[in-house]
Amino acid sequence: QKNKMWDGRFSRPSAELMERFNNSLPIDQRLIEEDIRGSKAWAGGLLKEGVLTAEEFTLICSGLDSISARYRAGEELFTASDEDIHMAVERLLGDEIGEVAAKLHTGRSRNDQVATDFRLYVKNSVATLVNSLTRVQKVLLTMAERDRDVIIPGYTHYQQAQPVALSHYWLSFFFILDREKKRLHAASEGADILPLGSGAIAGSGFAVDRSALAEELGFSRITDNSMDGVAARDFVLEALHAIASLGITISRYAEDLIVWSTYEFGFIELDDQWSTGSSMMPQKKNPDSLELIRGKSGRFLGNYTRFATTLKGIGLTYFKDLQEDKEPFIDSYEEMNLVLSVCEHVLGTLAVRKEAIAEKLNPFLLATDVADYLVRKGVPFRKCHHIVGRLVGDCIARGVELTDLSVEALREYSPHFGEDVQALFSWETALKGRDIYGGTGPGSVEKQLAKARELLNNA
Ligand code: ARG
Repeated sequence: QKNKMWDGRFSRPSAELMERFNNSLPIDQRLIEEDIRGSKAWAGGLLKEGVLTAEEFTLICSGLDSISARYRAGEELFTASDEDIHMAVERLLGDEIGEVAAKLHTGRSRNDQVATDFRLYVKNSVATLVNSLTRVQKVLLTMAERDRDVIIPGYTHYQQAQPVALSHYWLSFFFILDREKKRLHAASEGADILPLGSGAIAGSGFAVDRSALAEELGFSRITDNSMDGVAARDFVLEALHAIASLGITISRYAEDLIVWSTYEFGFIELDDQWSTGSSMMPQKKNPDSLELIRGKSGRFLGNYTRFATTLKGIGLTYFKDLQEDKEPFIDSYEEMNLVLSVCEHVLGTLAVRKEAIAEKLNPFLLATDVADYLVRKGVPFRKCHHIVGRLVGDCIARGVELTDLSVEALREYSPHFGEDVQALFSWETALKGRDIYGGTGPGSVEKQLAKARELLNNA
């Protein structure tokens, strides 16, 4: 018994397993709104071309609107034999309006249809991610404004390096997120090209005004070549890459914050709402939110790799392999949206433990400033580095701090040390000495805050 829209040339139905193997509805039903929008636009094109009468056009559009309304009302619309969202909508349209439904697919193929639907979907998804990302940036800006006066040990290799303002740290996160946002914008532009009218491969046999379709569907451009139109999935890879990159960036900050929340550091404490406990150890409070944020970065990268690997072997133009584009993207999109929302809340509610931070500020953090001091007295930097290095080594051997040494003791290492060296031993002074553009000095941090506010205002 025949039941497929394409089975005229077949004498036997698909095997049940083949049907299940081939059906993409469980995944691509998420594209129903895009599919309906695309179909309404296409019907409009067919009307202008004289393929549909005004009555037929009106009937098709009201049928499509009714499917959309039923879907939004939560009605169960699909059956197990629906091959994909495009076939399902066409079948439902037939149920709604009868025979006329069969005219909609004139001059169109699922090849240009799915490419159109998915470009719409990717564009929307990326726009949602940009908004979520902006909310994370807003939280970071608030934190940076709040923590101007908190001085933390800055680390390289997780070894104490130089003192920095906590604001400076939050702002580093803000600025890289701004670049991630640009990558998302670029991915959105990559998807912003309309392939509808490409037909199956050679271009539709009906000269529908494609620019008008683009305008109606909110695309800035139309594809210049129908084979490229139906075959290209570079826009999917671009979006997957942008998400993977964002995931990696957020993962690095999650890693720091996980370390900062340990007893050994104690710089921050996550809010109870964003932590979990242990089933056995009653004292535990674990930063699971941050660990999942870090962990999911593997999944984003995996989704990129997964689809890149599929895509690389596919010649032109359409092959069913391309159906494998949706699951990785939808997974990356949905999970990234979760990651961004959780990140926003974790950051917005974490407590900064100023006393614990202050206790960890070790005077050796000022060793570079001591070396710079000698440079200003005319000693070549390499020599200063060596002098201060010996000083540090001796302090460690004797179990004293750099700040414990008297000026006389310092003079044994270099005659250039004077009384004014004492002024170096202040965290605030150390920061003030780094007001170079981009530095951690208070003036520079103010400039960064202004720049960050400006970037958000233009977002
Ligand atoms: N479900 C298919 C996909 O997602 C739709 C396109 C099918 N086209 C075709 N000629 N079989 O790629």
